[in-house]
Amino acid sequence: MSFPVDRPRRLRSSEKLRSLVRESRLSTAGLVYPMFVCPATKVRKELSSMPGIYQQSVDQIVEECREVESLGVPAVILFGLPESKDPEGKSSLKADGVVQRAIEAIRKAKLDLLVITDVCLCEYTDHGHCGVLNKGEIENDATLEILSDQALSHARAGADLVAPSDMMDGRVGAIRTKLDKHNFENVPIMAYSAKYCSGFYGPFREAAQSAPQFGDRRSYQMDPANAREALKEVAMDLEEGADIVMVKPALPYLDIIRIVRDACHVPVAAYNVSGEYSMVKAAARNGWIDEKRIVLEILTGIQRAGAEIVLTYHAKDVARWLKS
Ligand code: PBG
Repeated sequence: MSFPVDRPRRLRSSEKLRSLVRESRLSTAGLVYPMFVCPATKVRKELSSMPGIYQQSVDQIVEECREVESLGVPAVILFGLPESKDPEGKSSLKADGVVQRAIEAIRKAKLDLLVITDVCLCEYTDHGHCGVLNKGEIENDATLEILSDQALSHARAGADLVAPSDMMDGRVGAIRTKLDKHNFENVPIMAYSAKYCSGFYGPFREAAQSAPQFGDRRSYQMDPANAREALKEVAMDLEEGADIVMVKPALPYLDIIRIVRDACHVPVAAYNVSGEYSMVKAAARNGWIDEKRIVLEILTGIQRAGAEIVLTYHAKDVARWLKS
């Protein structure tokens, strides 16, 4: 293949032709919209570092879910800001907890939406870590019981999928066993399998009020420098029963998305996280970038890297842009 017989520009001469030969087609069908549920009613508080994203009470969540549904976005993922926090994150298990009530309200409104829940302790513990503590250390095995009970309470409330994000070893297996034991064998697990210890979660921690009160998450989240280890985490989660595996964050880890896609046979999700969103929003507000163009390019890139599912705060905008 060489010039002048071969001229790649031939296939770039019109939009019709470019569209005909396009390798990845971004679609709303793979998007998941993250939402933050808080107590009380009629609360809708915009996050200063994430314009367009709100902490909302259950009634407001339902209203926004109507909009999400009407835009054709198929799924939301819920994060809870509980009334109270304690060392073990026990408020995450309450049948009338914020997330549980939000799921029920979305179900009651009969919205045609998949409801996914984030399963973790950091939003519910007073110390902000994703597991329970023992002498200042995060205790793996003791955390599994609470996580699996939390997943069960989400399933009981009507969650369609549960998504553990804590990075404790063995949590996918513990959750699968617990769900099966209570006849929720058809509730899939979307595992945050390769979740890196990332500075890009900064704005989320404001949104979910989940910043660790001491230390950091390096003893459980992955080292950003590691790629092979992601395959190990994915293999273990699949062995334990994960139905979907996730890479998180997305943009600095496109190589990980690609190797995970090539290494397994389940759907791969990527989380286009809060910091990635905030950077785009800040630059767009300053008039430095064309927001629509950049967001569509970013999501196309994440999909091209191999993710069928993308969790993104841009989901509603993307759905609108793809429609018009
Ligand atoms: C933990 C969790 C985090 C995110 C999703 N689930 C934060 C963390 O690990 O500190 C980050 C999402 C984002 O930044 O958008 N429950």
